[in-house]
Amino acid sequence: MAADKLRVNIFDMVASIARVIDMMSPVVGNHHMQVAYLAYRLGEELQLSDDNKFELFIAGALHDIGAFSLQDRLDLLEFEDTKPGEHSVAGSLILQTFTPFSSVARLIKFHHVHWKNGEGAFQNGESVPIGSHIIHLADRVAVKLSRKAPVLSQVRGICRAISEHKGDVFVPEYVDALINMANREHIWLDIMSESMEAILKRTVLYWTKELTIEEMVDFSRLVCRLIDFKSKFTATHSSGVAAVAIELSRLSGFSKHERRLIEIAAYLHDLGKLAIPSEILNKQDKLTDNERFIMRSHVYHTYRVLEPFEMLSVAGSWGALHQERLNGKGYPFGLTSDELPLGARIMAVADVFTALTEDRPYRKGMDSNNTKAVLQSMVDAGELDNNLVDLVFKHYAKMNDIRDSAQKEAIRDYNAFQTILHRHVK
Ligand SMILES: [Fe+2]
Ligand SMILES: [Fe+2]
Ligand SMILES: [Fe+2]
Repeated sequence: MAADKLRVNIFDMVASIARVIDMMSPVVGNHHMQVAYLAYRLGEELQLSDDNKFELFIAGALHDIGAFSLQDRLDLLEFEDTKPGEHSVAGSLILQTFTPFSSVARLIKFHHVHWKNGEGAFQNGESVPIGSHIIHLADRVAVKLSRKAPVLSQVRGICRAISEHKGDVFVPEYVDALINMANREHIWLDIMSESMEAILKRTVLYWTKELTIEEMVDFSRLVCRLIDFKSKFTATHSSGVAAVAIELSRLSGFSKHERRLIEIAAYLHDLGKLAIPSEILNKQDKLTDNERFIMRSHVYHTYRVLEPFEMLSVAGSWGALHQERLNGKGYPFGLTSDELPLGARIMAVADVFTALTEDRPYRKGMDSNNTKAVLQSMVDAGELDNNLVDLVFKHYAKMNDIRDSAQKEAIRDYNAFQTILHRHVK
């Protein structure tokens, strides 16, 4: 394998994202993996190709990724899907920016379209992929599942509820496939099993792909949008951190390859925010103690989500350690200076610098004198790396320009995303 190629297990990556978005609330359970499992099994029942079944798995695992608030997520757990438009379009708009996921994005865009006795093959002049109807059916079965009674006692009731909408909501052939599956007890026991993800992983043909480092950067940028676009307050944050971190790593003598890794680290450093409801990210008042603890835990989630990926081990740990401080007073590990690699120190400085200087909708960014004073006080307290902060001071104007233009570009992306979103859901 060429040095600039990374072997990536797409199953593991997608499953990790599914897990983190379902951390938003215990009420949500493991909805995304359940839908992925059911959609995959329906694909088997319908004898679809391996590629199509794999797409069903990915789309099932990510289908509600555009539902940013806890309230949206809870609403979507109601069987009657009355306000489904926005999250489907939001998810698909973001996913389509990564070319290998463009067909998955189409499945997600239409995953709440009703069949309407055939009219649902199209929506607004666009053809609706059959996979969207399969995800819809899998999703509606999943929301009916309850932990309050043995799953096998629920199967008949669920099949009856779904059959009542055969034709008007669901494709008749897919309802038949579900009814055929009803007798296979293992499917229902699998869905409720603690080991469901492991079982699915053994079932799905592995889709291991070799990505170039550039493609990995693109994938990370997609994840960055998923994280940042959750709230208008964070919409450009990781893009700004990336620009600053790349510049700091260049000034520190990092090679081109290492600068790519630092870019990936920056895009993923707030990955754990996928688990934070947008209600908390959007809050302008002071956070309550509980909200602060939830917010703080995002760094831990970033670390644990990225930890299993060998090909991300360097970039992942740099990103996930951005709240560690040299004096051991950071979190979540309380590491000290001899345990913190230069990449992690760069991430910490880039994150603080960006957070201080960026404009937020409710406040202007800090000017250079105040920013420098805060950074110096953090160096004096033994929190940030002295040499890196010196580099910031020496190249302050350029560093700030680089951050500002990266964030201006990101806000253009975000505004375009919002415009298309509103056009679609009008
Ligand atoms: Fe949905
Ligand atoms: Fe769903
Ligand atoms: Fe951050």
